[in-house]
Formats: sequence, structure tokens, C-alpha cells
Amino acid sequence: MSDEADAETSDALAERRGVETEVYQPAEDSHLLAEVVVERVDAGDTVLEVGTGSGYVASSVAAETGARVVGSDVNPHACRQARERGVEAVRADLTEPFRDGAFDAVVFNPPYLPEEPVAARDDWMETALTGGETGREVTEVFLDGVGRVLAPGGVVFLLASTLSGVDEVAEYAGECGFSTAAVRDESFPFETLTILALHPGE
Ligand SMILES: C[S@@+](CC[C@H](N)C(=O)[O-])C[C@H]1O[C@@H](n2cnc3c(N)ncnc32)[C@H](O)[C@@H]1O
Repeated sequence: MSDEADAETSDALAERRGVETEVYQPAEDSHLLAEVVVERVDAGDTVLEVGTGSGYVASSVAAETGARVVGSDVNPHACRQARERGVEAVRADLTEPFRDGAFDAVVFNPPYLPEEPVAARDDWMETALTGGETGREVTEVFLDGVGRVLAPGGVVFLLASTLSGVDEVAEYAGECGFSTAAVRDESFPFETLTILALHPGE
């Protein structure tokens, strides 16, 4: 894709995903992730949603499964909005403050658009949407650390997009010691979204 086409794609995605607010609002990626997680989490589970944003995914999973769901986000406005939805939200960088082995499932819809130097902004929507030059930078830091907070038998549900490379994310997860399975794909005009289920040490 040309740089111009890339920029148009990202602009259109950003537009649909609520650039005018300080908090990412639920979009097709949020709905896909919530649907997959609701089908795979049990009432007795403790779940962490990293980057909870508006709290939509966390509150849907809690309401529909009965699981205890905690949300984290670097954006204080997101934490406030998630709390208003009833989510126990912690301002945090990824999984950093949580104790070892605390969660049966960790869920993340990461910022994944490749950064465009020309259009780069410095605001909370940028934090929600872009994952550095490759689009995978936040995802990779997440993968480096998430194994620590998983309980034995725990699982990670991670969203990836063709806009920043699904195979590359799966490969990096493998390098971090996870076995990876694609559990749901959905195609949209600009991209295909995939939910990856990651199990440690298999
Ligand atoms: C694509 S949005 C997803 C929001 C919400 N989970 C959803 O699906 O609608 C990504 C979210 O990750 C948050 N985020 C970005 N970097 C983060 C980090 N290092 N630690 C925690 N949250 C982060 C952003 O603030 C944003 O709320």
C-alpha cells in the first residue's frame, strides 16, 4: 500500500473509532473480542482486560459470564469512564502492577495502527490507536510481560490486524513461549481482525 493510501486507511479507521473523544469508544474490534471472550470465560475466573478504554469489553464479559473482571489503562479518562460502567479499573502500564499468577485470562485489544510520522499526534487517541512504526510495539511489550500474571492453565486473548501483521504477532508470541491459535477472524473493508488465544509453555 502507498504511504498516501496508508494514511487514508488510518484516517478512516480513526474517524470511525471516535477521534473526537479522549477515550476509545467500542468499535468492531471491541465487539469481536468481547464475543470471543464471553464464550470462553467461566464464572469462577478472574480476568484482566488490559487497555480497557470505555470498559465495554470488561463490563460485557463480567455481565455475561459472572467472572470477576479487572480493567487497566494508561489513560486516566478511560479509567474514569470504565469505572462509570462498573468496571474495577486501575491506571497502569500494561500488566505492570499486578501480582504474579493473578489471572485466569488476560484480554487485550491493543493499539495496532502503524504510526505515520506525518500525521502523528500527541494525545490519548494516539495512545489508543497506534503501536509505533510497525504497529506491533505495544503488543510486543505486552507479550514480553503477560506470562508473569497468568495463573497455571491461564490463557491470553489478543486481537491482531492485517494492518500490522497477524503472522508477525503470532511469531513473536511463539518467541515469548506461547502456543498460538487463531480462534476467530472477521474481515472488514480495510483489514481482517483475528483473535489469537495464547497458552504458555506448550
Ligand atoms: C484500541 S483501544 C481498545 C479499548 C477497549 N479495550 C476496546 O476494545 O474498546 C486500546 C486501549 O489501550 C490503552 N493503552 C495503550 N497503551 C497502553 C499501555 N501501555 N498500558 C495500558 N493501556 C494502554 C489505550 O489507552 C486504549 O484505551
